[in-house]
Amino acid sequence: MTNEWGPLGALAGEWEGEGGLDTAFSHAENKVLGTPYLEKCTLKPFGPVDNGSQHLYGLDYRSAMWRGDEENPFHTEVGYWLWDAATGEVMRGFVVPRGITVLAGGTVATDTTDTTDTTEFTLKAAQGGAQYNIGENLYLAKNASTLSYEVTVTVGDDTWSYDETTMLRMNEFDEPFAHTDHNTLRRVG
Ligand code: HEM
Repeated sequence: MTNEWGPLGALAGEWEGEGGLDTAFSHAENKVLGTPYLEKCTLKPFGPVDNGSQHLYGLDYRSAMWRGDEENPFHTEVGYWLWDAATGEVMRGFVVPRGITVLAGGTVATDTTDTTDTTEFTLKAAQGGAQYNIGENLYLAKNASTLSYEVTVTVGDDTWSYDETTMLRMNEFDEPFAHTDHNTLRRVG
């Protein structure tokens, strides 16, 4: 099926997943922790957005993650997923309210008129990257700087999954630390 949203069409909707797992260094516990989480995510289609002869279709999204029975989410994101059918490029631009912005991207489809086979794709961003890069606040630049971000999305039948790795240069470690997250989301609307 041809869809103006290309491989992003399958992600439009409302989603929930209770099987999330985060791996991060916890300052409260002074050690690396694996934290299970519940996630709720809404992705709303829009478009086209025209940049001259470029026509983008996208999803604006908002996601939140909770651990245990906490009232407030411990992680949130707002942003846009974007699809350029002329080139097969997917982008994900988002903000993490620690003072981090990410524009990740990748060229994911060879036949952009039929993206039914594009059910798995990877987007990347790196600190200082020419196109796909990461902005962060002054504190994080000194203490916990994001070196790179990579996410692989896999689309199923009324589900989709992501597996992402954020490489951090942290004062607590000599080597870059892999902060990872993955979850499978099922359609609830
Ligand atoms: C599902 C997605 C994510 C979850 C659930 C999550 C969760 C967490 C948690 C629990 C911490 C530890 C905070 C602490 O206890 O001190 C943390 C730290 C951090 N996260 Fe994430 N994170 C996610 C995605 C990201 C992404 C995409 C980025 C950047 C591109 C990012 C950047 C950071 C940074 C820089 C820190 C270190 C802060 C510090 O050490 O002071 N995270 N995150």
